[in-house]
Formats: sequence, C-alpha cells, structure tokens
Amino acid sequence: PIEARVDNLMKQMTLQEKVAQMCQYVGLKHMQTAERDLLITEMEKSHAQGFYKNLHSTDVARMTEEGLIGSFLHVTDLEEANHLQSLAQKSRLKIPLIIGIDAVHGNGLCSGTTIYPTPIGQAATFEPALIEQASRETALEMRATGAHWAFTPNVEVARDPRWGRTGETFGEDPHLVGVMGAATVRGLQGNDFSNPENVIACPKHFIGGSQSINGINGAPCDVSERTIREIFLPPFKACLDANAYTFMMAHNEVNGIPSHSNKYLMTDLLRDEWKFDGYIVSDWMDIERLHDYHRVTESYANAFVLSVQSGMDMHMHGPDFMEALLEAVKDGRLTEKRIDQSVRRILTAKFKLGLFENPYFDEAKSKDLLFNKAHQQTALEIAHKSIVLLKNDGILPLDASKYKKIFVTGPNADTHVILGDWAVPQPEGNVVTVLKGLKDAAPNTTFSFLDFGWNIRTMDPAKVKQAAGMARQADLAIVVVGENSMREHWSEKTCGENTDRSDINLPGLQQELVETIQNTGVPTIVILVNGRPLGVEWIADHVAALIEAWEPGSFGGQAIADILYGKVNPSAKMPVTVPRNVGQIQSVYNHKLTSNWFPYAIGKNGPLFHFGYGLSYTTYQYTNLRLSKSEISTDETLTASIDITNTGQMDGDEIVQLYIGDDFSSVTRPLKELKGFKRISLKKGEQKTVTFDITPHMLSFYDMDMNFKVEKGTFKIMVGSSSRDEDLNTIELRVK
Ligand code: IFM
Repeated sequence: PIEARVDNLMKQMTLQEKVAQMCQYVGLKHMQTAERDLLITEMEKSHAQGFYKNLHSTDVARMTEEGLIGSFLHVTDLEEANHLQSLAQKSRLKIPLIIGIDAVHGNGLCSGTTIYPTPIGQAATFEPALIEQASRETALEMRATGAHWAFTPNVEVARDPRWGRTGETFGEDPHLVGVMGAATVRGLQGNDFSNPENVIACPKHFIGGSQSINGINGAPCDVSERTIREIFLPPFKACLDANAYTFMMAHNEVNGIPSHSNKYLMTDLLRDEWKFDGYIVSDWMDIERLHDYHRVTESYANAFVLSVQSGMDMHMHGPDFMEALLEAVKDGRLTEKRIDQSVRRILTAKFKLGLFENPYFDEAKSKDLLFNKAHQQTALEIAHKSIVLLKNDGILPLDASKYKKIFVTGPNADTHVILGDWAVPQPEGNVVTVLKGLKDAAPNTTFSFLDFGWNIRTMDPAKVKQAAGMARQADLAIVVVGENSMREHWSEKTCGENTDRSDINLPGLQQELVETIQNTGVPTIVILVNGRPLGVEWIADHVAALIEAWEPGSFGGQAIADILYGKVNPSAKMPVTVPRNVGQIQSVYNHKLTSNWFPYAIGKNGPLFHFGYGLSYTTYQYTNLRLSKSEISTDETLTASIDITNTGQMDGDEIVQLYIGDDFSSVTRPLKELKGFKRISLKKGEQKTVTFDITPHMLSFYDMDMNFKVEKGTFKIMVGSSSRDEDLNTIELRVK
C-alpha cells in the first residue's frame, strides 16, 4: 500500500531531503532562455537584491543530482524530462521528480502537440463530456513529453473582460465553470490518477484573481464572504468533488490577506472544511511577493515561513525557500511535523503516478501519442461546437456558387494566433489557419488576401486603404480580427496572462479596417478570434454576419470554414455576457435587480450579447414547459420538462438552458441563475423532450446567517435558448 511505502521512505529522509520535495524549479531549457529573454527584468531585480544568488541552470542540475529538488515545471520536451529524471536517479534516495506544465487546452507549451480551443471556447460548447475527452487526450500528450501534472483548469469566474486571462476560464457563470472544471479534472486524472495514462489536475487560482481591481492580474480583490461562497468557491468545490489532487493559490490578496499567506483559504477552508488531502502549490514566485509586493513580511525568508505556516505545500520556482524552512525548523517557528504533512502529500502523488517504478517515458511511444488522428478529430469537433454565430442577415451559410471571388484580410486571418495563450507556435502542417481553411473548403473560389502580419499594434494604415480597393474587386469580404494572446509575441500581445486592458474595443487599426471594408458596400463577414469579450457594437450593427470563434486551436480555420459554408450548423452559446463598452462592466447575466441604473441597463437594450446566446442555421421552438409538481416542501426534488422542435430546414444541435430565480428572499438574490443545461441534436422537423431534475440544492442560497438553505415562497423556473427574458419559458414553483 502507498501509505506504507511513503512512511518507509520518509523514515530514511533527512529534514533537508524532505524540504527538497517542496521545492520546484523551472526546466533547464526554459531557465537558460529565460535568463536571457523572458524573465530578464525579474532576474535582474532579483540579482540586485541578492535574491537569486547567481542561480544558474548548472546549479539546478547539480541540485537535482543531490536530491535537493522535488519538482520541475515547464519542461517542454521528453528528452529534457528524461534527462532530469536521470539526474534525480543519481541522488541518494533516487526519488523521482514530478513535472508540471500549463497544459491548459492541450499540451500547448510543447511543440508537435494537439491544441484544442481555449477554455472560453470549450465552455461555449456546453458539452462537458467532450471537454473530458480532450483532457484525457491531453493527459496522454503530457505523459508523452514526460509531464505528470497539469496546471489547469482555471476555474475562476470571469466577470471583468478587461482581465487578460478571461479566455483561459470557462466564463462568467459559477455552475458552467464548475461543470467544465470538473470535466477537465476527470479527464486528466481519471479515477485516481494511478493509471499511467492519467496526470494530476490543478484547479487555480484560489481565489479571486478574476475579480481584481479594474481586471488587473494580481491586483487586490475585495469581496464579501457571500460573494466568495456564492460565486467564486462553487467551481473549486466541484473540482474537489471530482477528486482534484492539487490546488494553486492566486497572485492576489483577498480582503486584505494575500492568498499565499491566507490560512483561512488554505487550511480552514480547504483542509478543515472541505477535507482536501492533496497538496497546494504556490504560483510563480508569489511567496516572494508576500515580502516585496504585499509587504506582509520584512524578509523573503519570513515570507516562505509564513506561507508554509498558513498551509502552503510547494514553492514554485526559485532558491532560498529550502534554507528559510530549515532555519525555521531549527528555531522552532515550524515543526518537522508540519513539513512531514506536505512531504507526505507530495510523495503520495509520486507513488500513485507510478514514478518510483518508472520515472522515464519511452521516446518511441511518445511519437504515436502526440498530435495523433483521434486527438485531431476531438480538437476539430470542439472547435465546431465552440464557434458562436452572433449575427446573420441571411448571408450564411455561404453559397459557393454565388461568392466566387472572396477577399480575406485581418491580422488573425493567417497566423498561429488561433492557438491562443499557453501554446507555442506549432509546425506549419499542424495548424489550419482561417485562410487555409477557406481555401480547402472552397477549391473553386478565388481568394485574394492582404496580410497585416500578426502584430495588431503596428498595423500599417496604408494597408487599411489598400484593403478597401481589394474588397471592391471581390464579391465578399471576410475580415478576421480580434486579439493576440500568443506568448511567443509576449511584448506585443493584447490578451492573455498579464495582458489586461483598460478598454474592450478592437485594438490597433482593426475597427478602421472593418469600417473601411464595410463602407465599400461589399458584403462583409467579420470573424472574431479573441480571448476576452469585445465590445464591437458598430460591427454587430453593420456587417452581414458576425462570428465569435474564440481561439479555436489547431483546426480553428477548418472549423470556421465548415461553419461559413454550412457543412456544420453552428450551435455554441456565449459563456460570457458581452458588454457594449467598459461602462457596462460588470454586466453579468446573474445580476440583481437593485435599480434601473444598474450597469446592465446602461445603453440601449442591455448588453451587446447575452450569456447563453448564439444563433443557428435552423430554428427551434420551445413548448409545453411543465413541472412534475407545482408545489413542494423544502426537501423535495421535482422535474421540469419542455418539448423542443427543430422547426427549420437543417439538422442541428441546441443547448437547452435551465435558470431559476427566487421571487422574494430574506437576502438579495440574482434575478436568475443557470442551474442546468443540455446539448441535444435534432434532425429537421424532429421534436425531443428535455427533462431537468430540480433539487433542494438548486433552490438554496446563503441566508442572513450564512446557512445554505431553501426558503419558502415562489420561484421562477425558466427554460430556453439563452438567458435573455424573451428566449425563456417561465413557470412558477411554490415551496411551502
Ligand atoms: O500556472 C501558471 C499560473 O497560472 C500563472 N503563473 C505561472 C504558472 C506556471 O506557469
């Protein structure tokens, strides 16, 4: 049994060897390049403070051989992973390394892997089984590059589109985020991650990173316990219920206490209340920030100690952590028993993963797993199901015989930007850009193309003029605009990690580009490739068709073309509300009534696009909403059923959504909250009945004393095709 093996090993370990298990470092190749490039300012600053003490990749290699490092992150190829494991095998106790990586939508930091749509697009599918499948495949592709631990899912509830990481989340609704997060955990970990085909998941960032001031990554988050319990915690709890074995803390403080020294979050809540028995990892150098940013300790050494005292188990990247902990045990600020707790949790993971039996991965096997046909198919299917049709004046699906000359342009038309954040550019043959997808889909059409390069910030104004001329020569213009989250373009990207914005318009000259083309009179279709909702009101009002493609991954261009030409009927729905402008933030759908002046009502007709909204090439009719009981007591469950008919001319998928609103309650409640959803396929003319269970849990909320319970009274049960009132059928339920 694993427990006995852990006990036995721990008996042989020195205190230093134990603390070593809590130390994680970045991969050697990453470190070598980072010292010159990515982290240059961070390294210079740390050197100036004597903090890095001239740490180099050679020191890290030596420390691995001496058994002074327990884990690595960002090891981006199998050769390096196997090399590091071989160094660890030279150490006294030969304890294997656990290797983590941000495999957020596929194992994208490694070259030659399958890149699935980013999580915001995954959420738009409303199909957790498919996301579970993609995560299973990601686990295989991670193992194939020597990794065992995915720093995902990001289950923060995104309510401020200025935040650059919005696209890395499953959107704004706690229920949807929780369902998709749990599916990701199940896919990655399987039942208990002891299968060699599984890896460990890491829900992050615990908590509040998505609700920081002005959407700035890492800025303070000040929220009530009610909002924490109602909005931010449920997705993490859903991941824990799916057996997530690790959690990563958030950069930010919550109500004045940095997450990395937050005993309430790490110990009282996670351990004592939720009975979490896995381990907690810090975010990148965030324990150090307790000293130099949050300033809650007078030294780095004290920051390390405080974090571990509060419940931290593993330090992500950098030296001095070990020394600080050894010193603290010596002078009694930390007990060896406390260190043992963390080490036991980490070693348990290594035993379960089978790393003591074999820390290496076979290179020959690796090739068959990476970017294999089945994975490619899943990536394409998710892309098909994640692309939201936002507007269609009837031009779509395109008639290939009518539009014979098509002009394509825009910075995102022919680049790997469709892969999104946490992906490196992939081999050319592995990526179908939008331009390529269109050419493949319509071989008899003549495509003209004006390339703006990938850099949105430096678009050439002369080319904008040229675009109008080229559009005039065509029957149709397809303009692919949006944002750029690719880490490869770190200093020029407009979205993604650490790229927050004060506006949600189209950056660069993209708005001018679309307007110039639209004003030629040539029918214009706009495709958005972006991570965060964009306030594209003028575009939505003027162009013939508007598509939200998110960052659709390796086969994004193919999926977009399949939808444009009607090979696939669009079915995705918005996992976030799109405000018209920054003034409408936070126009989340699950707002309270409060007053007419609530931001939701600012501007005409509420937000630009509602949560749950998305068009299709067919039409669906919802009829006969009924409840199995119209009156229940507080502990009863009932069902709601509705008939849905495909009344249009094409087969399609519809995402049926269940919302509940409490009419009167002792504390204020949102007007409606998503409580269930089902994706169904309907042939032309077909009717199906969809049934939802409504449990007491779904009717409950935190009352004045923070008890989670159902209150008597009336509730609105709403079922329909989006969160918009006009798309919902409503029936009353009485709880007596
Ligand atoms: O996992 C990430 C985290 O989400 C942000 N900071 C860096 C970590 C490791 O790459």
